[in-house]
Amino acid sequence: MQRTHTCGQLNQEHIGKTTVLCGWVDTVRDHGGIIFIDLRDRYGITQVVCDPDDNAAATEIAKSTRPEYVIKVKGTVRGRPADMVNDRLSTGGIEVIGNEVTILNRSKTPPFPLEEAKAEKVSEELRMESRFLDLRRPSVQERLRKRHKMSIAIRQFMDAQEFVEIETPILTKSTPEGARDYLVPNRVTPGTFYALPQAPQQYKQLLMMGGLDRYFQIARCFRDEDLRADRQPEFTQIDVEMSFVEAEDLYGIIDGLLASVMEASGHPVPELPLPRISWHEAMDRFGSDKPDLRFGWELKDLAPVFQGTQFKVFGKVIEGGGAVKAINAKGLAGVPIRQIDEWTELAKSHGMGGLAYIRVQEDGSWKSPIVKFFSEAEIEGLKSTLEIEVGDLILFAASDTTLVVNEFLGRLRVETATQAGIIPEDEFKFTWVTEFPLFESNEAGRLVPMHHPFTSVLPEDMHLLETDPAKARAVAYDIVLNGVELGSGSIRIHDPERQGQMFDLLKISEEEKNSRFGHLLNALSYGAPPHGGIALGFDRLAQLMAGGNTIRDVIAFPKNHKGIDLMMDAPSTVDAKQLHDVHIQLDLPPETEG
Ligand code: AMO
Ligand code: AMP
Repeated sequence: MQRTHTCGQLNQEHIGKTTVLCGWVDTVRDHGGIIFIDLRDRYGITQVVCDPDDNAAATEIAKSTRPEYVIKVKGTVRGRPADMVNDRLSTGGIEVIGNEVTILNRSKTPPFPLEEAKAEKVSEELRMESRFLDLRRPSVQERLRKRHKMSIAIRQFMDAQEFVEIETPILTKSTPEGARDYLVPNRVTPGTFYALPQAPQQYKQLLMMGGLDRYFQIARCFRDEDLRADRQPEFTQIDVEMSFVEAEDLYGIIDGLLASVMEASGHPVPELPLPRISWHEAMDRFGSDKPDLRFGWELKDLAPVFQGTQFKVFGKVIEGGGAVKAINAKGLAGVPIRQIDEWTELAKSHGMGGLAYIRVQEDGSWKSPIVKFFSEAEIEGLKSTLEIEVGDLILFAASDTTLVVNEFLGRLRVETATQAGIIPEDEFKFTWVTEFPLFESNEAGRLVPMHHPFTSVLPEDMHLLETDPAKARAVAYDIVLNGVELGSGSIRIHDPERQGQMFDLLKISEEEKNSRFGHLLNALSYGAPPHGGIALGFDRLAQLMAGGNTIRDVIAFPKNHKGIDLMMDAPSTVDAKQLHDVHIQLDLPPETEG
């Protein structure tokens, strides 16, 4: 071993002992010829002191070091004088008198400062270009360590519940998760391609058909989609599938799993069972299928208040069976008018005519372009429905389509609450969202599965498949934490005929059915057990547990918003020979050629 201790290990108990430490120079200071080095490794920081009167040679070398040099220090542990003790460090009561300093490696001046406060201000792109340096920061390492603790807790919990961790192929066939596939050309059979899995969805169902009963995997998934703060082109799922279960059984397992993950990452264990809300109620009350339950500000239905109103904008909508709703953004009456203009633009982009509002002034009067149209009874109705007080900002939305009102107000609810700073950052509010619709309409107005085509219909809605499939609910559920969709799952179709019927409803041709799903339909016809499962986004969970602003902060080597690994410079071009081997000829748009 090159070292006897780590930089986080020494304390008063070691005073008088000889030690050898290795690490990076965090800072080096010269105090009248005496050199102080903060030596850093994964475990902490230890102060090294070199005094020319004690050891001129070691001091000379110490003096020549620079931040990020890698050095080895042999020395003696000494207690610090009482007024020099640093309570913020576990090693703050001692220092090491350096008798022998060896430079193991030099470092160029890093392209950005690694001190936490300064590094946080540097552009993320710059840090990602030299991610190996960024990784040296204690806060980054701490998050990765927490992620590791979480994966240990997950494996222990799942093992105790008789789940078997099974690896599924990375080179596979396209799975319908809704994003574009990453393709891998096949050299051996020209013109054929593997796809990287968007999720191990079909494999885990096939494992149930294989009698494995309880499967899980901390699985890498790949999706070529537009990226956002909470999306990466490759990401990790805690993937789960179980046989002979109902949704209730899955909720129980995942509740327990999340409680153990909370505990492993040092957070209070939530009360179980975790709360549940139907998709319909979540949309109605919070305007979102991933409601943030850390604050109120619920959407209030104003149809009862404005029934038969003189105010045409609302009256027409109510008559036509649409929705008029509002939220009470408490304390935001004073936001500048340009802020309201901005939200009005948002309303318009959601397809609404405008954004009506009321600002409740200090003197209790209402400042609003629309109250002049309201009757006494309507004003009273508003007051009681929205519990209006001085300082409140009431924001209204009206549309013939209830979903439009809900989605817009749901978004406004989160934006206004964020602006008001009322969302508690240290709270964890989980909820299950259950009974998702089976289908949604895509841009072309065609029915597409809201989750995926293997999801079963809620038994009491079975009859709707023939009459009004758009209204049918699924045995599909999401687990949500603080307004983030952590995971999604469903009870699957296990009857080959019903699965075929589903493909028909989705207008999947006979040919496509056979080429893309033939293996699954075949397997379903050999005694497939009833089964269901879920997948949790591990990166999102880790970010919520370990902190950080985006999932990139809990991924060792993340890609940027364009899907680029700035350090490796991937993706990149390849040799003509490599392309030739896999029978590919490029057909590039003109601006990228050459
Ligand atoms: P779904 O597609 O909803 O379900 O994915 C499950 C969870 O994975 C996370 N997630 C992502 N995280 C980071 N970057 C991404 N690009 C990304 N995409 C998804 C989310 C999401 O809730 N096979 C089904 C699950 C099942 O039915 O069992 C599936 O993959 O947290
Ligand atoms: P108008 O009659 O179009 O001038 O609208 C009167 C008020 O109602 C204005 O403050 C508009 O911003 C607001 N408004 C118009 N359409 C809607 C709508 N769909 N939802 C909420 N407010 C609206």
